[in-house]
Amino acid sequence: MCGIIGYTGSENAREVLLDALELLEYRGYDSAGVAVKEAGSGKTVVRRCAGRVRDLRKLCETETHFSGCGIGHTRWATHGGVSDVNAHPHQAGSVTLVHNGIIENYRELIADYGLEGKLRSETDSEVVAALLDYFYEGNPQEAVQKTVGRLKGTFALVVMFEDRRDAIYAVRNVSPVVATLCEQGAMLASDLTALCRFTNRYFVLPEYQVLELRKDGVTLWDPDGKVMEPEYQTVDWELNSSGKNGYPFYMEKEIMEQPGAVTRTIEGRIRGGMPDFSADGVPDTLFTDCERICVIACGTAMHAGLVAQALVKSVLHMHIEVEMASEFMYSDPVIDEKTLVIAVSQSGETIDTLEAVKYARLRGAKCLSVINVRGSSIARESDYVIYTSAGPEIAVASTKAYTTQLAVFYLIVARMAHSRGIFTEEETQCFIRELQRTPETIRDVLARRREVHVLAKKVLAAKDLFMIGRGLDHSILLEGSLKLKEVSYIHSEAYASGELKHGPIALITQDTPVVASVTQDKLMSKELSNIREVASRGADVAVFVKDSLAKELEDYELFRLPDMRDEFMVMPASVALQLLAYYVSSDKGFDVDKPRNLAKVVTVE
Ligand code: G6P
Repeated sequence: MCGIIGYTGSENAREVLLDALELLEYRGYDSAGVAVKEAGSGKTVVRRCAGRVRDLRKLCETETHFSGCGIGHTRWATHGGVSDVNAHPHQAGSVTLVHNGIIENYRELIADYGLEGKLRSETDSEVVAALLDYFYEGNPQEAVQKTVGRLKGTFALVVMFEDRRDAIYAVRNVSPVVATLCEQGAMLASDLTALCRFTNRYFVLPEYQVLELRKDGVTLWDPDGKVMEPEYQTVDWELNSSGKNGYPFYMEKEIMEQPGAVTRTIEGRIRGGMPDFSADGVPDTLFTDCERICVIACGTAMHAGLVAQALVKSVLHMHIEVEMASEFMYSDPVIDEKTLVIAVSQSGETIDTLEAVKYARLRGAKCLSVINVRGSSIARESDYVIYTSAGPEIAVASTKAYTTQLAVFYLIVARMAHSRGIFTEEETQCFIRELQRTPETIRDVLARRREVHVLAKKVLAAKDLFMIGRGLDHSILLEGSLKLKEVSYIHSEAYASGELKHGPIALITQDTPVVASVTQDKLMSKELSNIREVASRGADVAVFVKDSLAKELEDYELFRLPDMRDEFMVMPASVALQLLAYYVSSDKGFDVDKPRNLAKVVTVE
């Protein structure tokens, strides 16, 4: 977690850093800080505080000096509470540093190098600054190498040395760093999002290599001191695509972007009406040689896996498990060379998913990952990658990443069904034609978003809420309920409606609104009975219903979803539920994009 940024170039560094930190705030937002080298004097000025980047910006208002070089940080606290003194950057002697990650042996380092009296904060990061200062004898690259040789844990370190005027140094283990040299100078960041205002060319800093950024150049050294060439790649995100584009919140903007994001994700992967992964380099043998599938993911990405689970069972009749990455290693997973592991992650950096992928590959499984951020750690650890084209997702609550992940799963299921001889060519094309309709049905929901807003107003006052449905409806609601919880702070539980009467129905009263999803033809009559059961106990019920099934539900508050084949109803229904969560949160006046305690990229276990 934690966002980090470094810049040296022709623009005013303080402004570049503050703007970038605002974009990186999704990585953590309990404190923020910048350190810049003032032009002329070369003096390092540090400003940091507990609170948001907007608080830091205020703190910097009185700073008028131009600065061409600096580093910045936005924190999600791990070691040490949320306070000004624990905020980064940390300074020790001639070293100023920001850090993302966790140094596991920081106590040993304090004892071994006699650092006790030198530390002001409670952080592991300040220990690294002190160690760097201890080793620094005028050669930054050597000091960095010596320091990381002593560290245990995960880290991305970005450092300025007092006597190196316009230079910034970085090194990492596991925690990501991407960097670039562009017209405005050289910069690096924990996430690509912060760079794509300036360029779409970047390189990933290889682990344990030391990077030096100068205004007009970059140098990379491997651990033996050999100079290395950075391997540049390009991202297809438009420059400036990370702005809010007139919307009050990123979450709304990202919900609205979904028809385009889904279209971009599927269009290059359909040829002659058939799913086609040749441009991704994914061979059919990956789909035909496996006996079982295991999806590994966290949060919303894991919920996309649950939808895939239902599809794989009903279309492919194959054994599939969806594993929470955080539990995976401790659950004695049954993984072998006949298992196709599919890892799903927006950021490609979630540490639990990354570790699970490494573990599965050691067991002989082939790993295909479905990732949004190019060149990210999980993508690099996988045998094959299918990239979603959601573009930068900034709101902590994931929306467009989820629907694009689902779109990829539809393509995978169709390709597998055809290559395993389950679907004929005609059946495959028919399935794909329905997938191609999804952007249009999502657009239809978005055009009627005011109707969802009306439903949202009815649950504003709720403390607890249930979401009920069966089969795929239950999978959709697990994600809908997570969305509502994280942005509105309403306690929401998604429950399989048939299971409700085995306990939780005891909680249903007139103060417990119920949201139902009814999108599956064959489950309609049973879902209707379950809705009646909660309504007869006083609950107000709002139903997201497939239009052709709506007739029998007219006694309830309805939102009609455009008709699709049952398997595809997930797409319009999920978007409607995202809107519900969004409106509840924004009507309550919350900071929709930055829910309390959360971070978008979870790089601690
Ligand atoms: C965090 C985010 C969620 C996300 C999950 C997995 O919890 O807040 O929105 O679904 O991590 O992230 P990933 O980047 O692996 O999809």
